[in-house]
Amino acid sequence: MDKFVIRGGEPLLGTVRISGAKNAALPCMAAALLTDQPVILENIPQVRDIQTTRNLLAAMGAEVELGFGRAQHRTSIQCANLSSPEASYELVKTMRASTLVLGPLVARCGRARVSLPGGCAIGARPIDLHIKGLEQLGAKIAQEHGYVEASATRLKGAEIAFDKITVTGTEDLLMAATLAEGETVLQNCAREPEVADLADLLNKMGASIEGAGTSTIRVQGVSKLNGAKHRIIPDRIEAGTFIIAGAMTGGDLNIAGCEPTHLEAVLNKLREAGVKLKINGESVRVMGDNPFTAADMSTEEHPGFPTDCQAQYMALATQAEGTSVVTENIFENRFMHAQELVRMGANIKIEGRRAVVRGKTPLQSAAVMCSDLRASASLVLAALVADGETILDRVYHLDRGYEHFEEKLRGVGAQIRRMGDVFGKK
Ligand code: UD1
Repeated sequence: MDKFVIRGGEPLLGTVRISGAKNAALPCMAAALLTDQPVILENIPQVRDIQTTRNLLAAMGAEVELGFGRAQHRTSIQCANLSSPEASYELVKTMRASTLVLGPLVARCGRARVSLPGGCAIGARPIDLHIKGLEQLGAKIAQEHGYVEASATRLKGAEIAFDKITVTGTEDLLMAATLAEGETVLQNCAREPEVADLADLLNKMGASIEGAGTSTIRVQGVSKLNGAKHRIIPDRIEAGTFIIAGAMTGGDLNIAGCEPTHLEAVLNKLREAGVKLKINGESVRVMGDNPFTAADMSTEEHPGFPTDCQAQYMALATQAEGTSVVTENIFENRFMHAQELVRMGANIKIEGRRAVVRGKTPLQSAAVMCSDLRASASLVLAALVADGETILDRVYHLDRGYEHFEEKLRGVGAQIRRMGDVFGKK
């Protein structure tokens, strides 16, 4: 299992370029299931979750081509014959977003068999709302041996109000509704930019969708969708991670190729904490030459502060003057990074959904363990300001969602190395 060794104390200086959004790329790849023609996606990040999705689609009979050289961020997916509309436990257990294939498969093939995701490190994460919505669209659902089996001759448009806001739930039903008969109205939808990006692709494929990015989405069903070419939006969570890294290390970092309008909640919170930021088109410059202060933060659905930046913000809060209260409203168990930060010298008390972070404590290097994707990012940030050499174990969590993370950090002055198994596999 790979590890990172990080020596703290270097300010990050220079420019870092943001990759395509993993969380937009995943549903867009699943959308290719809706047509027998090729869907060409650009700005796809090279991360493990994307590879898992390629394997998932290929196992169903899709032809998945990956660009190389200068085209390495392009992928072409053609689902002419879907011989096996099934997502196995082996794949779903490593990536919960595999459930995104449920809606498109039942819409296109009339049947789908997808493993239930089960527990996840950051909470229960059920898919009941995906299932309930598909039933409202007329699918018959059975649950057997840990799998969801959905079937329908043709889905029928319906009015569906989500009991709770769910990002992949909104995307799953949006995809299913494109091929349903008649109109579907989805209420209480997730407003994340990734939902709007998926709708852009679907509209290019011939769907008729209005309102994506707002809480009400209207879909006029069509009988067939075509191929299309689409460029994935920049990753706002990767951008947020680097902005926080620039501020924490007292650097002068230019985060290029991002979409600042997708980052407003993060930028506003950092401004409130006294971090100096300059927006210039598709770039955010963070100047960490002044001390920053504590600011309370609560995660919310978009356009609120994203839960996927909560762990990184907590690392920043350990270095702010004063006490910050961090409240996690989306997932019930998303503070695993806190214990590891405490082992590095942070002063954090967890009280249910709230973490009370007392800054500013000097951090020391330690051997720490990554527990999930964003928790890992927060430990990297802490290590960048810690005294001495931190060893981060289980960085495969980071590889799921950050493209060339250590190369990008090294390019702006961080002292970070990847270490494989010393003896390799037997
Ligand atoms: C997506 C993102 C993830 C992010 C999360 C919240 C992708 C691939 N992943 O995850 O990075 O952290 O949004 O912004 O885009 N819920 C239910 N029933 C359901 C579905 C969800 O109760 O059927 C609950 C979840 O347990 C959670 C909340 O709703 O408490 C939000 O989850 P959801 O928005 O669905 O997260 P994901 O789409 O899995």
